[in-house]
Amino acid sequence: MALRRFDLEAGGESFCFASETESKIAFWLGKYPLDKKRSAVIPLLWLAQKDNAGWLSEPAMRAVADRLEMPYIRVYEVATFYTMFRLQPVGKHHIQLCGTTPCMLRGANDLKAVCRERIGEPFSLTDDGRLSWEEVECLGACVNAPMVQINDYYYEDLSPECFGELLDQLRNGADAPPGTFVERQRSAPIGGLTSLVDPALFDGSRTALSELPNLPGTGEGAAVAEPVRTTLIQSIPNEAPDLFQSAPAEQNDLRKIKGIGPKAMERLQALGVYQFGQIAGWSVANAAWVESALSWPGRVEREDWIAQAKALVAADKET
Ligand code: FES
Repeated sequence: MALRRFDLEAGGESFCFASETESKIAFWLGKYPLDKKRSAVIPLLWLAQKDNAGWLSEPAMRAVADRLEMPYIRVYEVATFYTMFRLQPVGKHHIQLCGTTPCMLRGANDLKAVCRERIGEPFSLTDDGRLSWEEVECLGACVNAPMVQINDYYYEDLSPECFGELLDQLRNGADAPPGTFVERQRSAPIGGLTSLVDPALFDGSRTALSELPNLPGTGEGAAVAEPVRTTLIQSIPNEAPDLFQSAPAEQNDLRKIKGIGPKAMERLQALGVYQFGQIAGWSVANAAWVESALSWPGRVEREDWIAQAKALVAADKET
């Protein structure tokens, strides 16, 4: 690891935390016992760096040491060890360019050339003080390589061309929204999903009761058949909600409840649930019974079915 020295001259004589930072400092100090408050040294250095235009001056480090009642040398040691702390002035937009293998294989060296051309050598500043850059190790976004972090945000799937434009934009004072620069959703495959595309994987139908080996009356491919329902009702009769034995004339479109898709509705109907009013009247035990019967642990509460059903019943009454 390279020796890192801090810039003694550029930092001036004093440093003061911004008043709005005080609550954040209190938050971090509150995490540790009073006699262990030095444990907050890294978050406080991070806050000081933010309040000092993106780098740690020596007065800023001293301010942290004073807050934590630590010897100055202990704080200097931490600040000079971790490369997340910058020890010399940086630009308004400081670019951390990932040069680790996945990014390197996907073109990080070309991005470095763009930085050299538009900004200069690492840690040099543009004349207007707007841009600076450094190379860093993996930032954990390899799937969107090559990428850079600019201040707090990631810019991903970069090409030299779009990266160059991005730097020009920032230099001209424009905003540049972070994220990917190609047609993809976050880290999903370019061009859309290529695997796990079956909606049934996500609607709960793959966890059908019929697939559980230790329950009675569940033949392969069967939905919730009548004997199964009867068995369930008999086994925990007090918690079973009111269920229709056969399809009633009046039925609601249960898919209006967010979280219930076509397959889920099919399975609820197979169990005897056809109307919003039934769901609206479920007790916690009823809901647990249904979740157990259909192997949907926690789903009724998580998706707030009962409140949704009550609202739908009320809306029905108004019309
Ligand atoms: S290698 Fe660049 S983000 Fe991981």
